[in-house]
Parts: sequence; structure tokens; C-alpha cells
Amino acid sequence: MDQITDDFPKLMEAIESARYAHSDGMGAFMCFMAVRLLAMHRVLKPTGSIYLHCDPTASHYLKAVMDAVFGWKNFRNEIAWCYRGGGVPRDGFGKKHDLIFRYSKGKAATFNVDAVRIPYSEDSAQRLKYKAKAFTSSGTYDNYEQNPKGKHPEDWWIMQPIMPSAKERLGYPTQKPLSLYERIVKASSNEGDVVLDPFCGCATTLVAAERLKRRWVGVDIWEKAHETVIRRLQREGLEGPRGSVGEALPFYGKIHYAKEPPERTDDGETAAPFLRVKERVKEPEGPKWSRQDMYDHLLNQNGMKCQGCDRDFDDPRYLELDHNTPRADGGINHISNRILLCSPCNRAKSNVFTLSGLRRHNKKMGWMAK
Ligand SMILES: C[S@@+](CC[C@H](N)C(=O)[O-])C[C@H]1O[C@@H](n2cnc3c(N)ncnc32)[C@H](O)[C@@H]1O
Ligand SMILES: [Zn+2]
Repeated sequence: MDQITDDFPKLMEAIESARYAHSDGMGAFMCFMAVRLLAMHRVLKPTGSIYLHCDPTASHYLKAVMDAVFGWKNFRNEIAWCYRGGGVPRDGFGKKHDLIFRYSKGKAATFNVDAVRIPYSEDSAQRLKYKAKAFTSSGTYDNYEQNPKGKHPEDWWIMQPIMPSAKERLGYPTQKPLSLYERIVKASSNEGDVVLDPFCGCATTLVAAERLKRRWVGVDIWEKAHETVIRRLQREGLEGPRGSVGEALPFYGKIHYAKEPPERTDDGETAAPFLRVKERVKEPEGPKWSRQDMYDHLLNQNGMKCQGCDRDFDDPRYLELDHNTPRADGGINHISNRILLCSPCNRAKSNVFTLSGLRRHNKKMGWMAK
């Protein structure tokens, strides 16, 4: 959390806004997601995409968090997964779609439209029969002419969820249909690429990946997850040549399984470095102080006085830890660049003033302590 507060101020704002608008619980959920999404951003390849399936109560907050982590320019699609059936509320429209956000790491994102084309509806086939052929001279197809490979799919997908009686069902309440994940994997990866599902549950993503000859990584916190994955692969007939899933998979050999998190090989590189506040001055060596350490140190040194307006307080809760030179201007997180400000001073200083700039501003406005 310290790192998010100091290095990803936009992300912190997105988390805080969920907390203010909804509840502390929603804020906590956004924190939980934020640290994981930062990690996902870090490991995503330049050609990769991430698909985030959201609950409608949280999707709008999650989109802001995704914008802060992946960059709003890398927002690619908001997919409405539509379905029928189940109950409807008496006092409103039936809630029959889920949202899936697609973000990419950058401009080079893989998108194989030909792998996910869908049949034209009979309606449009009839209509299009009579349209001019002139549009195809460039070899591109648009709404006026049918592409023989099929229609470019929209961002709304009609796919039935798994019904309680379905053969595919494993008794997992949140199990998703395989066809949903197959479309995602086909569209955004190529054979041999790696597909990662950090909440892999009963392994639907992994089955889709294996079937489509992608390599895959599944992560789940549930201790039986490993067995579930193996059983699911067996059920789907994805045994290796020697007839044992544990031994070999058809395409990429053995499954590796570990309870310990893998060791990082990137020397602790920070997540989303392009979103991170730039540091122009290198931080001095030495043990890192926590925000609390710095706060206590400054209280000890200056008492409960705001360094922006010189007001004295009788309770440390009025004082907030801030930077002298703003982070946006290359100020470091080190104690040598830290100050305690009252809330109005902190707001006025924002990312604009240095401490001396703030004090000049306060004098001009008549906001200094009398
Ligand atoms: C919604 S299910 C995924 C179902 C999957 N999409 C499918 O259709 O097969 C969510 C999974 O996330 C796992 N999970 C929950 N919290 C987690 C965490 N902090 N880290 C990793 N996995 C977690 C749960 O154990 C559960 O298996
Ligand atoms: Zn003040």
C-alpha cells in the first residue's frame, strides 16, 4: 500500500474514489485487485491482452483501476457477455449480461479476427445480397459486403452460461463456458503463446489454452486447486501420450506444480514503470523507512505543526505525510523530502507547489497562522 500511495498516485485516487462512493469494503476490494493487476501488467508481454471479468457492482470502479494500471490508451473493449434464463427482479429489467474488460499492454497487441469470426445472420445475408460489389476492390470488407470467412464479431457476445444440468458442469458455482474462454484465447494469442489465469478455479481457461495448443499457467489459492486442474484435464481427454496427465500433456509435456511462488528473475523490477512517478534524483542507499516511521520522525522533530501554514494542532490526525518537492517533479520518497501538512495545505499544495511555493501561496492568500 505504501508503494501504491507514493508511486502510483492515479491508482490510489481510483481506489479512494471507490471507497468514498461505495464503501470501505469496496475500497479494500480495489486494493486487493490493484496489487494483483499491477503484477499482471508486469508479466504481460508487449503483444498480450488481459481480460477482466467483473461483477456489475464493482465493474465501474474496476475500470478506473484498470485505466490507472494499464493506461486509458490501452483500453480495447468492454465486452458484454449476454445470456438468457434464470430469475428476473420484479421491479426492474432482468440482469442478463456480465462485463469483460479487455486491455492490452500496448499498440502491438495480438488480435486474430479471422480466428473468431462468426456466421452472418440470415437477415443480413439477405440484405447484403443486393449491395454493390464495388466496395471490395481494396480487398477489405465492411458492412456492405460479406467476408467469406465470416462476420467480424461485435463487443456483445451471446453465450449461454453453464446450466446446473449441463454435461460440462463440474459443480463449481462460478464455472464459465469453455466457448467463452476459447474465443478469448483464439483472439488474443497464437499457438505456443502463454496464457495465464491467476484465479483459475476449475481450469476452464487452462483447458481452452491446452486445446488450442497454447502453453498455460494457472494460479489458485485453494489448496485442492492442483488436483482439480488435473482431474479436469483428464475429463476433457487431454492426457499425454503416456496416458497420464501428470506425466505429459499432448503439446508441451509435463505439468509443473509448486506451492511456493516462483522466484522472480527480473531483479525486482517495479510494476507498470511507465505509470510510475519518475524519480530524477536517486534515493540514498540504506534501509527503507515505512510511511509510519517517517510520520513519527517528523512529529518528533516538528511537533504537531503544519509546515505549510504554521498552525498548531492538538491531535496528529490533522497532519498528513507529503513530499516537499512533488513526486511529479522528481521528488523522492526519502525522509529528506518529507513534510507534514494539514489537510487544506495538502490539498492546496497538491502536485503543484514545493513547500516554499506553498508557503508563498498561503501568505498571498492570507492563510498563514496568525
Ligand atoms: C470464480 S473462480 C474461477 C472459475 C474459472 N473462471 C472457471 O470458470 O473455471 C475463482 C477462483 O479464484 C480463487 N481465488 C480466490 N482468491 C484468490 C487469490 N487471492 N489468489 C488466487 N486465487 C484466488 C478461488 O479459489 C476460485 O477457485
Ligand atoms: Zn496547513
